[in-house]
Parts: sequence; C-alpha cells; structure tokens
Amino acid sequence: MSPEPPRRAPNDLRQYDDLADRWWDPLGPFCSLHWLARSRAQLIPPAPAGGGRLLDVGCGGGLLAPHVHGYEHVGVDLSEPGLAVAEAHGVHAVKADAADLPFADASFDVVVAGEILEHVTDLEGTVAEALRVLRPGGTFVCDTINQTPLARLVLVTIGERIHGGPPPACHDPALFVDPARLQALCARHGVTLWVHGIRPAARAFAGFALGRSQRVEMVRTGSLAAVYQGVGVKDAGAPGTGRTPAEHAAGHAGPPAA
Ligand SMILES: C[S@@+](CC[C@H](N)C(=O)[O-])C[C@H]1O[C@@H](n2cnc3c(N)ncnc32)[C@H](O)[C@@H]1O
Repeated sequence: MSPEPPRRAPNDLRQYDDLADRWWDPLGPFCSLHWLARSRAQLIPPAPAGGGRLLDVGCGGGLLAPHVHGYEHVGVDLSEPGLAVAEAHGVHAVKADAADLPFADASFDVVVAGEILEHVTDLEGTVAEALRVLRPGGTFVCDTINQTPLARLVLVTIGERIHGGPPPACHDPALFVDPARLQALCARHGVTLWVHGIRPAARAFAGFALGRSQRVEMVRTGSLAAVYQGVGVKDAGAPGTGRTPAEHAAGHAGPPAA
C-alpha cells in the first residue's frame, strides 16, 4: 500500500506527483475522472479519414486514452510522474504549461481540456493557447467547475470528504470558472462554446457508494451550477473574424450529438 501523501495547500499541483500511481485505480482518488473522461469522449468527433491529431491539455495520467480512436493522442501536463503514466497508456506525452504550448498554430484537429481549467491561474492564456493550436473547423471540448456556492459545497466541502469525490485540497474554489466568462474567452478566438451541466447518475452513484459497481455514468442536467461540459467548433475564419458571439452562434447548427 502507498504511504499517506503529504498534506498540500489547495490546488498545489505537486499532489498529482504524490498520487501518480493512483491514476488508473477505478476506486482511487481519481475515480470520478474516469467517469468524466468517458462522458467527455462522447463529444469528440470521429477522426478524419487517414487520422487526425488530438491535444489533451492537462492530460494527467492519460485517462482519456481508451476513448480516443483514430487520432494521434498528444497530452501536455506539468506533472512528470503523471506524464510517464500517460505515456505508458499510449499518449504522446509532452511536459508543458497549458498557457504556453510548444505547438504550431492550427496543428490539432481536436483540443480537449478536461478538468484543468479550474486549476489554472492564467485562464485567459490557457484558453488562448488551446484555441491557437486548434485548426479552423476543429473542435474544442472541455469540462470544468462553475464558480458558484453550490459547486463549492458539492465539490469541496462535501465532495472532498466522500469516496467518489475529488482528493482533499484538490481545488481552490477561487479558480472555478464562470461559464459566461469561458464562453466570452472562447468567442474571442472564434469558438462558440455550447455548455451543459453534468452530474453522476444517481442510481449508479449509489451503487458505487455501496461498493456494488465501479462505473458511474455522467448524465446531463438542466443546471450549470456545478460541473459542466463545453463543446464548440472553431470558426473557419478565426482568429480575427471580428464576429460577435451572436454571429458565431448563428453560424453553427449546434453542438455535435453526444
Ligand atoms: C484534475 S486533473 C485532470 C487530468 C485529466 N485531464 C483527466 O481528466 O483525467 C488536472 C491536471 O491538470 C494538470 N495541470 C494543472 N495546471 C496545469 C498547467 N498550467 N499546465 C499543464 N497542466 C496543468 C495537473 O498536473 C493535472 O494532471
């Protein structure tokens, strides 16, 4: 059994190093990230004929890997132990800061930012970089946590104390992400972001809590108040199209079917 990890300040990224050997434990501290990865993957479009490139920003231990088909799966993270785990699961792992990506403009067909935006201190730079490396017509997929009292209660006050919730001190609620702000940042870079709330399916979560199952489906909710997903396609003329968010919205039929 692994020794107890040291106590860390909220959102101290060294905790991902401390817990690197637990990434793939379906009952471990990252179990809910397994559920979220499966749900997030449903928003990834089929790979182009001949293959495509997908960037997984803040890939952690590479939990998205089993759900990525037909793409070269490139992951960036700051945690070297996490990157080693991701690499062992088939991710081309690169050490980099999400706000300073070592890739050319428009070099990915899909950019995914799963459960990282609520951990970064430079949200504006992180979104700008994610959408800089996304090609026009490419898809941006993300999920994150809203900046609400409910999210703080559910994900921190309660969530960090229950099995199936995030590890203790995982989050600094000051970094949680208001969806309207995220949509405005994305619109600046030519992406109209469609957002919807998600939560664990109640029966499945009860089964997990009772030790009867390891797998919990995420389902959509009508509320954005806690965890939400976003998906959008980069405008063919972006960046610099000068189009308003409303004009971007008018140019898209809607998000890909989940
Ligand atoms: C909650 S985990 C999510 C991991 C993965 N996306 C998943 O859903 O399984 C957040 C990850 O973001 C990484 N991270 C946080 N800030 C980062 C930054 N500025 N640049 C790159 N990675 C970062 C952490 O090291 C950690 O692996």
